[in-house]
Amino acid sequence: MNIEQGISNVELIYFPSSIVIPCSILDIIFGIWSLTLRILSGIQPSGKLHIGNFFGAMRQHLRLQAEHNCFYFIADFHALTSNPMPAEVFGHTLDVAIDYIALGLDTEKTIFWRQSDVPEVTELTWLLSCVTPMGLLARCTSYKDKVAQGLAPNHGLFAYPVLQAADILIYNSDLVPVGADQKQHIEVTRDIAIRFNNAYGVVFTVPEEHIIESVAVVPGVDGRKMSKSYGNTIEIFEPEDSVRKKIMKIVTDSTSVEDPKDPDKCNVFALLKLVASPEELAEWENKYRNGGLGYGQAKKRLAELMIDYFKPFRQKRNELENNIDYVKEVLAKGAGRAKAVARETLEKARQAVGLRR
Ligand code: TRP
Repeated sequence: MNIEQGISNVELIYFPSSIVIPCSILDIIFGIWSLTLRILSGIQPSGKLHIGNFFGAMRQHLRLQAEHNCFYFIADFHALTSNPMPAEVFGHTLDVAIDYIALGLDTEKTIFWRQSDVPEVTELTWLLSCVTPMGLLARCTSYKDKVAQGLAPNHGLFAYPVLQAADILIYNSDLVPVGADQKQHIEVTRDIAIRFNNAYGVVFTVPEEHIIESVAVVPGVDGRKMSKSYGNTIEIFEPEDSVRKKIMKIVTDSTSVEDPKDPDKCNVFALLKLVASPEELAEWENKYRNGGLGYGQAKKRLAELMIDYFKPFRQKRNELENNIDYVKEVLAKGAGRAKAVARETLEKARQAVGLRR
């Protein structure tokens, strides 16, 4: 499938009852309710993007552009909560920008910027902080998980969801397409928006809370969820040889070649699902179930398909890498457009709380 083409009416349907469901049958039945939405999402700059980022979120972001007004930003303020090396922060931001543009970000239509270029969002964070109960943040599982993993619990990490709420609310977002791990943060955002609106009058759009991903978790080479922090990723644009090597190392079970295998329990098959045509996938499924298949065979084909899938975008990525000024220009232009919206909302919030008349 060509990821540059927008899917018609996308995978999202807007329900008055605040539910977003990815489903093509419902798309037909309730098509009349679908409308153009303001969609916003943030991507943490943790380096070059991997195929888990792509199939988990990025592909949806790119598809949504055709039908909706999309606001996408690189969350460099959020990245600071894990204390990255200063020398890496800007580089990682550029890497994410290059990957997004190379993979089909519509730089004319979509507003794409770096979070820290619109510092208005930090002022709004403060105003929101003052209506955010400590208990609401203390319950956030993402915070608790990170601390459990050994990250020092600094205040930024604790307040992370408030900054995220400010990101969402300052741009009057209707919908926030994120992975399941971010669901709680969207609920926190709704809670904060409602509290603020109740206390000071309606300033914020309350964003939709149900975002159901149509894509299953993308496994990494060790079978756990693909994630930079597990060191089990395959980068979208890493050298082709290295993609092959990593795919050949994907963990599989010890079923012998002759024995039938369960495709639904296989990491290689889970990745094949993302890149193989339905016909080819059905063939692999048969081969798995009939026995006589070695995992090595499936891995080789997977490597070929994965490399082919991203091939058309490699060239574009190389061009962008040699034209960083253009990438910076895209971000600067995006920041200007984002700022205009942010300023307006911030001013309303300042007035609402009594800082301005
Ligand atoms: N927390 C998000 C993540 O880790 C990134 C993010 C920051 C975000 N601000 C946002 C996502 C606002 C959606 C909306 O994936």
